[in-house]
Amino acid sequence: MPRKIIIDTDPGQDDAVAILLALASPENVEVLGITAVAGNVPLPLTQKNARIVCELAGKPETKVFAGCDAPLERTLVTAEEVHGKTGLDGPAMADPTMPLQDQHAVDFIIETMRNEPAGTVTLCPIGPLTNIATAFNRAPDIKARVQEIVLMGGGYFEGGNVTPAAEFNIYVDPQAADIVLRSGVPITMMPLDVTHKALTTRARIEAFRGIGTEVGRMVAEWTDFFERFDIEKYGSDGAPLHDPCVIAWLIRPELFSGRHVNVEVETSSDLTMGMTVADWWRVTDRAPNAMFIGDVDADGFFDLLTERLARL
Ligand code: RIB
Ligand code: CA
Repeated sequence: MPRKIIIDTDPGQDDAVAILLALASPENVEVLGITAVAGNVPLPLTQKNARIVCELAGKPETKVFAGCDAPLERTLVTAEEVHGKTGLDGPAMADPTMPLQDQHAVDFIIETMRNEPAGTVTLCPIGPLTNIATAFNRAPDIKARVQEIVLMGGGYFEGGNVTPAAEFNIYVDPQAADIVLRSGVPITMMPLDVTHKALTTRARIEAFRGIGTEVGRMVAEWTDFFERFDIEKYGSDGAPLHDPCVIAWLIRPELFSGRHVNVEVETSSDLTMGMTVADWWRVTDRAPNAMFIGDVDADGFFDLLTERLARL
C-alpha cells in the first residue's frame, strides 16, 4: 500500500528532485497534494515552480496549493544566492499551464487530515515549517491524526548552512519549527548531518544526464547550477542533495540510519537562532521526540534516484 503524503515545499532545485522522485514512485507514495511555502524564493515563485515540476513529471493533475508567504514572526529570509532568482535557475523553463488550486494550503492540510482516516497521512515538509505550524495552531485536533512528519531540516554535528549554528529551513521560521518539534507527532528528521553525505558528484550528475530524457537533462542542469554554490563554500566534491532524502527514506528507509533522540530549537538568541540542539549522546532527561538521521548509503540513494527518475 503506498503511503499517502502531502509534500510541503519551497522549490528550489533540490525540492524539485524530491517532488520528481515522489511522482515517479506511485507504488511507494500517493501524493495527495503539494503545498508551497515561502522559503528559498518568495511564495509566488515557489507555487509556480511546484507546478513547473509537476508538468515536467507529466502529472499536471497534481493538486498544488499556495500557503504562507512569510514566517510566523520573523521577516522572510530567501536564498537566491543558492537557487538563483527564479528558484530553479539552470535550464530555461516555460511558464506552467496547470492551475494553482484556489484553496489555501493550510486549509487543504487541515481538511485532508480531518477527512482521511487517522494515522494514514504523512506530512513531508522540505522547506520552512510555516504551513505545518499554522495548520497545527488553527486546528490542534489534527496533530493526533498525522501518521508521521518526515522533514528536511536542522543539523547537529554539521552545524549550520545559513549561519554557523542554523540550517536554512529551521532558521527561516524557528517559531514554526518549535511548534512542530513540540507537537507530539512522530518525527523523522533529515538534517545536514545526513544530507551532507549525499553529494552530487560529477559522476552522479552525468548519470542523471545519461538517463537521456527531458527529466534527466533538467535534473542534471539543476544540480549543475545548484552545486556551484556549495563547492565554492565547502570545497566539496558536489553539493548536498538535501530534500530528496525525505522521499528516499519513505521508499527505502534501510538506506538511512539515525537515533531517536530529543531535538529542540533555539528561538530567542541572536547568535544561535534556529539552531537544532540534538541530545545525540542522551546527556539530558529531555524526552526523545525525533528520529534524527545521521547516515545514508549515498551510492544506494543515487542509484534509487536515477532509476526512479528514468521512469518519468
Ligand atoms: O538547508 C537546505 C534546505 O534549505 C533545503 O530544503 C533547500 O531546498 C533549502 O530550502
Ligand atoms: Ca527546500
